Amino acid sequence: MERKKPIILSGIQPSGQLCIANYIGAIKNWVDFQDDYDSIFLIVDMHALTVKQVPAELRKRCLSFLAQYIACGIDPQKSTIAIQSHIPQHAELTWVLNCITSLGELNRMTQFKDKSKKNESNINAGLFTYPILMAADILLYQADLVPVGADQKQHLELTRNLAQRFNHLYSDTFVVPEPYIPKFGARIMSLQDPTSKMSKSDKNENSLVALLDHPDVITKKIKRAVTDSGTEIRFDDKNPGISNLISLYSVLTKKSVSEVESHFEGKMYSALKIELAEVIVDTLKPIQQRYNEIMKDKNYLEGVLEAGAENAYYRARKTLSKVYRKIGFIAKK
Ligand code: TYM
Repeated sequence: MERKKPIILSGIQPSGQLCIANYIGAIKNWVDFQDDYDSIFLIVDMHALTVKQVPAELRKRCLSFLAQYIACGIDPQKSTIAIQSHIPQHAELTWVLNCITSLGELNRMTQFKDKSKKNESNINAGLFTYPILMAADILLYQADLVPVGADQKQHLELTRNLAQRFNHLYSDTFVVPEPYIPKFGARIMSLQDPTSKMSKSDKNENSLVALLDHPDVITKKIKRAVTDSGTEIRFDDKNPGISNLISLYSVLTKKSVSEVESHFEGKMYSALKIELAEVIVDTLKPIQQRYNEIMKDKNYLEGVLEAGAENAYYRARKTLSKVYRKIGFIAKK
């Protein structure tokens, strides 16, 4: 009998512009995993509502993110790609999990604290309970592994705790998922403030390289990247700006940090910036070409979403019925 493949699940919020940090921290690893895992990749539009959205833009962005997933190498023949709001069980399981999560646990979430500072005029309940929706995303599909960047670690710990708690209260129901956080590139920093992470929704466009940026724009952004006043190209926590550029170069060229350091030995910061810009442009060029092709074919994209939703819905329904039965809800005839 063929052994069932383990399941991986991950997702990205359709907010801002997909950037090189999302590619390195998440998407690139999803592509590597999809042959060996039963894979589900979500566009988590319900999460995006925690910050104000312009409806028409949100709609367009979801389709654009889908095309970018595929252009980066996610193959809809191998992986399930779906939009979160197409599968109502996400909201339903969230409610059940809400009722076994303590306020104290949510209060500890550092991302909530960071995001509330950035959105002082709109600190809504969704922003606070968002990690529970994320737990539901993962547990609905019985995921074994969740490939994410380092910023999601705390949310994964909560997910594991909720799975264990539910299993303890109602008997074994959920797989307790493991995070997969890459050894290198799990926390790419902003090009304008290397002490904070690169974020796809940063209002300062120069702080990030978007996957769809024109090559001239990429070169300009890397040239303008904030570095310290040193001269040596060495990875050092005291010099976060240059260290971030070394990390980017190292991950994208698959060279170790010490190989990168020797490659640039005796050279000026500008040499690293020029070469790094070229490496990023070369990495993104085929992705952008594929993206432009895929975006012309709306029927194809809609077909991918339809198939993804059907598959995801079937799986999510299975888990939710089990959950409803265990907690004592009467099944609807
Ligand atoms: P989001 O949309 O903020 O980010 C998407 C993915 O990109 C990673 N990432 C980074 N990696 C390296 N360096 C960075 N500077 C960087 N910034 C972002 C994130 O870690 C993430 O993997 N809550 C999640 C989305 C989500 C999810 C899920 C993820 C919802 N449900 C279920 C996994 C499983 C989020 O806001 O990611």
